Amino acid sequence: MLLKFIITKISFLPIFAPMEHSKIIIAIDGHSSTGKSSFAKQVAARLGYVYVDTGAMYRAVTYFAYTNGFIDNKGKINEEGLMKTLPANRIGFKLGPDGKSATWLNNACVEKQIRTLDISNKVSKISALPFVREYVDRILRRFGEDKGVVMDGRDIGTSVFPNAELKIFMTAAVEVRAQRRFKEIQDAGGKESFDDVLKNLKERDHIDQTRAVSPLRKADDAVLLDNSNMSIPEQFVWLDRILLERFGLQMK
Ligand code: DC
Repeated sequence: MLLKFIITKISFLPIFAPMEHSKIIIAIDGHSSTGKSSFAKQVAARLGYVYVDTGAMYRAVTYFAYTNGFIDNKGKINEEGLMKTLPANRIGFKLGPDGKSATWLNNACVEKQIRTLDISNKVSKISALPFVREYVDRILRRFGEDKGVVMDGRDIGTSVFPNAELKIFMTAAVEVRAQRRFKEIQDAGGKESFDDVLKNLKERDHIDQTRAVSPLRKADDAVLLDNSNMSIPEQFVWLDRILLERFGLQMK
């Protein structure tokens, strides 16, 4: 009788219930054109998490500044004008005309406009402005309130979510990155030369790493992913192991 009682009690202990995994924040930082966005997007989809492209937010701010005359022909920024007008704008993500997730600035889908080399050349200076970073950070922290988010950028693990459960720092040789970016531009019908793409990448690396506010650097507790010689499936094998070993998480 006593044995039956014990067995009944034990079988109802919570350890026998299926394990519920709590959601985590995955911060993916690293150099430009390391494939962070595509990787982060797929990781989010396979975990059923929300994906946030933080570079797109800085690009949208740059697009706003440029199209509203806050950046002149020589690249000089009217900081005062931008600081006054920026907070009234809404930047976010929803479906674009092609049915894919896209970046919106107020009521306009700006996904295509923010990816041009012209905006790429201007975005580093805009993203180095402290008031721009504060504006974007506020929006990003709201996305992270419920966890279950994969965010890629430059300072997510070091500044936006220093307590993120998993931090990944992605890098690759600059020539490899330039080649990948060049191919993307060509596939999209762009005309920039390989040398221009390489120059732009080097300049952006330099500005991102040396700026005073939230410079790009690997967080001490971030895991390094150098994908110079790695295929996309290999990167997933690498991540699968970390997610399973550290968090008991399995991607679909
Ligand atoms: O990832 P991307 O190339 O779309 O980013 C565009 C620019 O935005 C990049 O030059 C650096 C900046 N950026 C940033 O400063 N902090 C982030 N968290 C994300 C991007």
